[in-house]
Amino acid sequence: MANEFARSDLSRVYNQLIARINQWDHEYYALDNPSVPDAEYDQAFRKLLELEAANPELISPESPSQRVGAKPIAEFKKVAHKVRMLSLANAFSLKETYAFFERAAKELNLNRSSVQIFSEPKLDGLAISIHYDNGIFSYAVTRGDGQVGEDVSHNIKTVRSIPIKLATSDPPLKLDVRGEVFMPKAAFEKLNQLALQNGGKVFVNPRNAAAGTVRQMNPKIAASRDLRFIPYGIGEYEGEQHFKLQSDIIDYLITLGFRKNPHSYAFLGSPDEFEKNYHIMEQAREDMPMEIDGIVYKINSLQLQKSLGFIARSPKWAVARKFPAKNVSTRLVDVEFQVGRTGVLTPVSRLEPVFVGGVTVSNATLHNMDEIERLGLCIGDRLEIHRAGDVIPKVVRVVEQGEHRKPIVMPANCPVCGSKVERTIGQAAYRCTGALVCAAQAAEHIRHYASRKCMNITHLGVKLIEVLYSQGIIKNIADIYSIKLSDIASLEGHGEKSARNVLDSIETSKTTRLDVFLCALGIPEVGEEGAKNIAWYFKNLDAIKSASFEQFLQVPDVGPVTAKNLVDFFSEDRNKTIIDKIIKAGVNWPDENDEHPRERILAGQTWVLTGTLEHMSRNEAKAFLESLGAKVAGSVSGKTSCVVAGRDAGTKLTKAEALGVRVMDEATFLSELHQQGSRR
Ligand code: IVH
Repeated sequence: MANEFARSDLSRVYNQLIARINQWDHEYYALDNPSVPDAEYDQAFRKLLELEAANPELISPESPSQRVGAKPIAEFKKVAHKVRMLSLANAFSLKETYAFFERAAKELNLNRSSVQIFSEPKLDGLAISIHYDNGIFSYAVTRGDGQVGEDVSHNIKTVRSIPIKLATSDPPLKLDVRGEVFMPKAAFEKLNQLALQNGGKVFVNPRNAAAGTVRQMNPKIAASRDLRFIPYGIGEYEGEQHFKLQSDIIDYLITLGFRKNPHSYAFLGSPDEFEKNYHIMEQAREDMPMEIDGIVYKINSLQLQKSLGFIARSPKWAVARKFPAKNVSTRLVDVEFQVGRTGVLTPVSRLEPVFVGGVTVSNATLHNMDEIERLGLCIGDRLEIHRAGDVIPKVVRVVEQGEHRKPIVMPANCPVCGSKVERTIGQAAYRCTGALVCAAQAAEHIRHYASRKCMNITHLGVKLIEVLYSQGIIKNIADIYSIKLSDIASLEGHGEKSARNVLDSIETSKTTRLDVFLCALGIPEVGEEGAKNIAWYFKNLDAIKSASFEQFLQVPDVGPVTAKNLVDFFSEDRNKTIIDKIIKAGVNWPDENDEHPRERILAGQTWVLTGTLEHMSRNEAKAFLESLGAKVAGSVSGKTSCVVAGRDAGTKLTKAEALGVRVMDEATFLSELHQQGSRR
């Protein structure tokens, strides 16, 4: 009995917690009016997760934790819409808009100016239909072809302006809420900035970012991006409410917990009113947090909508008045080349300043030389520029060729350091080869060189590198070895003790391995594994410095891109000078010829480890195989040389057997290990 009470108490607390968090989400995401500080919200959320972890049987589908609970999906399920999802006809002027409603009024035998119009911003995202059963989120589907869409529930459920449970005690039996999923402008800029830093996918505009996020498999990715939803109508509906007007439907959806489309209102459709509305929306557009690409006008009366019906895929009672694209033309004055942290040269256009979409634009990225070629650009040409919202302006096309047009050429030498510029094989990118001397790349190179995976200079952290670099104390990696105690001791936040620690860690790091040093040089495409192979193949640095493209190609797993990068790097004398300075400063690797004391009998082979090994860790087994020259891969294929199967080996073992790949148990592996170990 006591337990029964405890149980019902617990579930009461749990349900209250859910209701509270859902209410806070509604205030924050739908009303823009949070009532609690973030810390309080986070604390409640943590408590909810703890309760659920301790009592998994309690977990309710209404819980906000269930938004990101889903696993990545394997494929999109097709779902038929119960009520078709229509699209809209476009109008590009007042004349076209008015003519559209004139036709409608005529068909209805009404005076065109007496028909009430409901106007809403046309949000630039993608259409979604969300199905609720008895007020609980059931599934969400894309528009697709209007009849059949794709189930994207896993991602849509993570959108916090969409209620999981409708805010009513009297929910309809069935309801499809239809509206637009979009990404606010600020969230889009942030996402792209992050992608630029991390080498991720950069989206062209917020609409593509929203669509790309909704149409991917992993709900964790969707949850990490700021998607929003605003409804504009309903599809299937079985409920008690009776609606007379489009605006009634919107009002009802707001009471259920959805967000309101700002600046939506009804007016009587005279030309003056349409004109006034257009100017209001044009003004409002710049300050709106999301992109809009026009205004949607709908006849407000649902009865009139029903009598008009639709043709083809669009209703005869609604039209989209599109804003003109923000395109203008201007002259290309010059092209400059910017060198990025990784040495890649990016062409940037210098334009005659031009006013577009509320700002003056004087430059636009051109991405790469392939893009310049595709556009057929020359300096002096008149170009069309497109700017959407806060997005970086884009060159669309050449409108008129300049009289004295000058071709755009990639400079032969880096504009920052003068080193040779080379094209990466098979890529559009050109790179400065002065990796160790180029100021544009220096800070990044020093950070990489000192990092844990490379020279492991433990006390020379990213922050200290930044300070020393900005003060001109270290300009390249060789300068690390001439840092003086006083250089660091005089810095804010450092004393003699910490300065001593830095110098000691530099000293300790001097004894290293050839492959580690090679990796630390930061040659594009030469990572830990590649460096190991190169060091093993050539045995000493002098041989590497003077190796040819063909010789590099002989190294296992070194392809033409890496081979060319290596040759380019060592052809730049100033890179070699820096390496010489480092060696002179005392960096060394004991006995180069004894780098890999074991015979590399497995060179060129690929091994796979699976299941649990009883006598050693996976990492030990991997290190051992690598010391014998094998590559250790994560999956089995026809190219796998051998699979070591420990206890409870699963699909990898089955696959190896199916492919006829050699399989070895741990005991056999150990006896081989022993044999090899005793050969040292
Ligand atoms: S109404 C039958 N209202 O625009 C009515 N659509 O170009 C169908 N859109 O597929 C749509 N904001 O994705 C409507 N306030 C709004 C809208 C809107 C954006 C999108 C929607 C639709 C597309 C048609």
